[in-house]
Amino acid sequence: MDVILQRGDKEKLLGQKGIAIWMTGLSGSGKTTIGSALEKKLYGAGLLTQILDGDIVREGINRGLGFSDADRKENIRRIAEVTKLFVNCGVITICCFVSPTEEIRSIAKSIIGDEDYLEVFVNASLDVCEQRDVKGLYAKARKGEIKDFTGIGSVYETPLNPQIELKTNELSIDSCVDIIMEHLNKRK
Ligand code: ADX
Repeated sequence: MDVILQRGDKEKLLGQKGIAIWMTGLSGSGKTTIGSALEKKLYGAGLLTQILDGDIVREGINRGLGFSDADRKENIRRIAEVTKLFVNCGVITICCFVSPTEEIRSIAKSIIGDEDYLEVFVNASLDVCEQRDVKGLYAKARKGEIKDFTGIGSVYETPLNPQIELKTNELSIDSCVDIIMEHLNKRK
C-alpha cells in the first residue's frame, strides 16, 4: 500500500517546523514591512517562508471580494485555508492582513489550529497610521471616498490575547523582527 507522506516528513526534509505568523493591525501599521524584514532574516537563516499579504491576495485568489463584514470574513477564511496548506508543508507562513475583529481572527485560528497560530498585533495608533498614510487611503476615507475603511468607517477591535504585541511607533523594524525571532526560537 502507498504510504502517504506526512507533515513531519516534509518538516524533516526542510529541517524546520511549519507555523503561521498572523500579523493583524490597521492599514499602514507596518505588517508588510515587518513581515518582509522577518522573511529576509529567516531566509538568511536557511528557512523557507511564504508571505501572504492583503493587497496581493486581493488581486489574485480573492479578487472580487470587497470590505463588507461578509467579504472580509470570506477573505480571511480562504487565506487561512491556504495558510494551513503551507504550514502542513512545513513552511513558515507570514500572513499580513488587517483582520479587524476578534471573530475574524478566531476564524483564522480555528482553521489553522491553535498550535500553529502565532498572533502578532502590529500596534500603531490610528493617528500614526493616518499621518503615515503611505497609500493615501486615509485621506480618501476622510473625504468619504472609501466609506468602510478600517479605523474610520469600519471597526478595528484591539486583539484581546495576542502572543506578541509590537508598538511600531516605538520599536525599530529590527527590534520587531528580533522579538518574533525569539518566540520562534523558543518554540523549537
Ligand atoms: S481585511 O480586513 O479583509 O483583513 P486585508 O488585509 O485583506 O483586509 O486588506 C487590507 C488592505 O486593503 C489595506 O492595507 C488597504 O491597502 C486596502 N483597502 C482598500 N479598502 C479598504 C478598506 N475599506 N478597509 C481596509 N483596507 C482597505
